[in-house]
Amino acid sequence: MAELGHQVLGMDSDVDKVHALNSARAPFFEQGLDDLLAKHTATGRLRFTASYAEAADFGDTHFLAVGTPQLHGEQAYDLSHLFNAVTQLAPCLNRPALIVGKSTVPVGTAARITDLLHATAPAGQAVRVAWNPEFLRESFAIRDTLNPDRIVVGLHPSGGADETLLRTIYAALLDRGTPFIVTDLVTSELVKTAANAFLATKISFINAMAEVCEAAGANVHQLAFALSHDVRIGPAGMQPGLGFGGGCLPKDIRGFMVRAGELGAGQALSFLREVDAINTRRRSRMVDLAREQCGGTLKGKRIAVWGAAFKPNTDDVRDSPALAVAQTLHQMGANVTVYDPMALDNARKLYPQLDYANDATAAVEGAALLLHLTEWPEFSQLDPHHLSGRVASPQVIDGRGTLDPVHWREAGWTYRSLGHS
Ligand code: UDX
Repeated sequence: MAELGHQVLGMDSDVDKVHALNSARAPFFEQGLDDLLAKHTATGRLRFTASYAEAADFGDTHFLAVGTPQLHGEQAYDLSHLFNAVTQLAPCLNRPALIVGKSTVPVGTAARITDLLHATAPAGQAVRVAWNPEFLRESFAIRDTLNPDRIVVGLHPSGGADETLLRTIYAALLDRGTPFIVTDLVTSELVKTAANAFLATKISFINAMAEVCEAAGANVHQLAFALSHDVRIGPAGMQPGLGFGGGCLPKDIRGFMVRAGELGAGQALSFLREVDAINTRRRSRMVDLAREQCGGTLKGKRIAVWGAAFKPNTDDVRDSPALAVAQTLHQMGANVTVYDPMALDNARKLYPQLDYANDATAAVEGAALLLHLTEWPEFSQLDPHHLSGRVASPQVIDGRGTLDPVHWREAGWTYRSLGHS
């Protein structure tokens, strides 16, 4: 928003994060974000506070970007952080304001937030609500935000003035021809969960094909490449491997199923249970392959794991397929050493019982098996000839299909990959 030319006050209840952000340090790794923070904290267009009262006093428009994770031990969304934020902001809203939801929510949440604000904000009905779902991908966050495919805005039936305000806020993007799609509130909430359900389905489709390829002795990478030339299918989301993780796709398909069930439309989304199951099976398949390569037992075997983040170019380890596999191998008695270029600190906090190495080569020292589980570019640039002298046994299983099998086999490695017998 600061880059688009607005005056911005960021609000977070975590004082440490506020301090870090005011010093232009993001509380997570995202390429280019620290530079952008430095640029706009310097221009004075961007600063941060932990005070709801200050935020309410400052803002004509309030974007709610609060996390909506999966409820612990359940499939539904945990909306407590979001409602807590609204509950605390509302009593401070003494003047007209537009509250714009960006969080991914079960359909119907915007209406509940509207009721809560109207009941508890001193400005009452002068506090308006719109929904503007966020489609950015981690590791492409800045690019996706400043060059979105589309802007979707959900409005109350009487939201004409809200549309005008949002068009002004996004004017720089609209001038460049970005599609601006206006819907009612419930449809805009559904656009987001439906988009993530589709993306998850596409990934699980190609991973289901990987299972068939393994059984038939075919090569899923060649299959995916051939399919992707059909413009109706396309190459995006067609990378087979260990499947999807992260803070969005897994919990969004689960929360979506729960909400559809509450609405009496559960059957319509029952296929998402299979999408989830295919995804989870990739992780067990990787563990089975590892055990097979280790001669039937993992007990006491040294296994090197490359990758801890749920995908490359992020330090996010939420529902990371790589760490889930590493942890299962550890539970089955293997000595697992993990290396990741960015996510080691976060991985250590979540799985202190695993061993960690400071570089990719140190991780493979004495290993009976190497697993390539997150496709950081540096891994495909490493020389397998150099590495083969370090391991106890030159065996690699490529969980992402981005290492060059010819190159690794020439260097004396046994190379296997998911989706290829
Ligand atoms: C996703 C959506 O893409 C984004 O629009 C939404 O706003 C948030 O959720 P993100 O979780 O950042 O974004 O990552 P994405 O790039 O979609 O990847 C999700 C997972 O799927 C990763 O674990 C990735 O490794 C995996 N993936 C992705 C595949 O296994 N194969 C693919 O072809 C693409």
